[in-house]
Amino acid sequence: PDPNRAEFHLTAQKGKTEILDGIESDTLGYNGNILGPVIRVREGEKVAVKMKNSLDDPTTLHWHGLRVDGENDGGPHSGIMPGDTWEPEFTIEQPAATLWYHPHMMQSTAKQVYEGLAGLFIIEDEVSDSLAIPKEYGVNDFPLIIQDKNIDKDGNMKYEPGMNDIMMGLYGSSFLVNGAINPFLEVPQGMVRLRLLNGSNGRTYHFELSNGQKFYQIATDGGFLEKPVEMTSLQMSPAERAEILVDFSELKPGERIKLIDSGSELSRTVTDEGAVELMELIVSEESTEVYEIPEQLTKIDRYDVEQANVTRDMVLAGVGATLTINDKTMDMTRIDEEVKLNDTEIWVVTNQRTGTQGGMPHPFHLHGVQFQVLDRDGNPPAENETGWKDTILVHPGETIRIITKFEHIGIFMYHCHILEHEDAGMMGQYEVK
Ligand code: C2O
Ligand code: CU
Ligand code: CU
Repeated sequence: PDPNRAEFHLTAQKGKTEILDGIESDTLGYNGNILGPVIRVREGEKVAVKMKNSLDDPTTLHWHGLRVDGENDGGPHSGIMPGDTWEPEFTIEQPAATLWYHPHMMQSTAKQVYEGLAGLFIIEDEVSDSLAIPKEYGVNDFPLIIQDKNIDKDGNMKYEPGMNDIMMGLYGSSFLVNGAINPFLEVPQGMVRLRLLNGSNGRTYHFELSNGQKFYQIATDGGFLEKPVEMTSLQMSPAERAEILVDFSELKPGERIKLIDSGSELSRTVTDEGAVELMELIVSEESTEVYEIPEQLTKIDRYDVEQANVTRDMVLAGVGATLTINDKTMDMTRIDEEVKLNDTEIWVVTNQRTGTQGGMPHPFHLHGVQFQVLDRDGNPPAENETGWKDTILVHPGETIRIITKFEHIGIFMYHCHILEHEDAGMMGQYEVK
């Protein structure tokens, strides 16, 4: 066997998960009852995956954030029939990052993700090796997949979206972290690294700590920021990832603080419940190595606007029944945009205000690339958006310019990552040749 080639086996399967005390719900998982294993790879590594579908329905396995050819991307063209196995192979050609994987079948992405199909895909490289930051998995480096669900009185977590959920994206009233309800985490009395994934179908979070403590964002969707960004509140729309450093060394063993969603003007007005508790963090007796917040994390080569070969407009529109990109809804048989291999392009993404409601924010996602944000309404992006991104929240009336180079061939999707919107066709296809 090639020492540089890692092989992973995943089986999408039905399971049972205890959601309410002593009551199990039907759930879906990869190799287990809910969610999937953390896949860990290194830059430069060759990866082979054997993905078996043991569900009753077709599924796909999409690598969200991974720069690979279209045939390995796992979009809606790569359907895996029940009983079949899909075997993508690719080489990791991007820096250390916290990515994720999830299904991507037309019209059933929302249901399959909601019922449990999702997992993390973590890339390490020389930069992540050499940084003096917490990196002991499960000790001071914790992945947190945060999701909201609706659990009925019988303890079932079935996907049953209401009319509002279909129009605005599902908002659940219970919160699961890594597939567990009422979650808590014991953290050492020291510096901790949290790898956050907003794995929710429709909810945008504003993460804060209940003691108002500040923390530092060190990574975005596609890898490390150049410098840590200090903050007390972090906004994350569906599918976005962030790595943060939190220093618990001033807290006492046994102290409990909460990770909360502070809500905001962005919360969906119909069910705006204000602040909600997501999970409890309990400081343990354990102290760890002492860490400082690093001054510099990495160096990011910036794309040059002058190098852009093409500029494209992407107009997101609609609230309610009709959700479009450039006035179209998804058609599997239509390629919407043709991109030349190795071209650098600027995409101008506008969230068009429509109707009397004034619209709603849409998290815009591109497959197959990581991009850089040039500006929001002509203003430079926030400091924590100056890293690699693959998903960006576009507010009503706002125009965001992003830039990237298309280095992989094949057919790829771009879409709103509110999964109900994606399933409703707020998605298009680009082909790189
Ligand atoms: Cu998270 Cu089209 O994907
Ligand atoms: Cu994706
Ligand atoms: Cu949307």
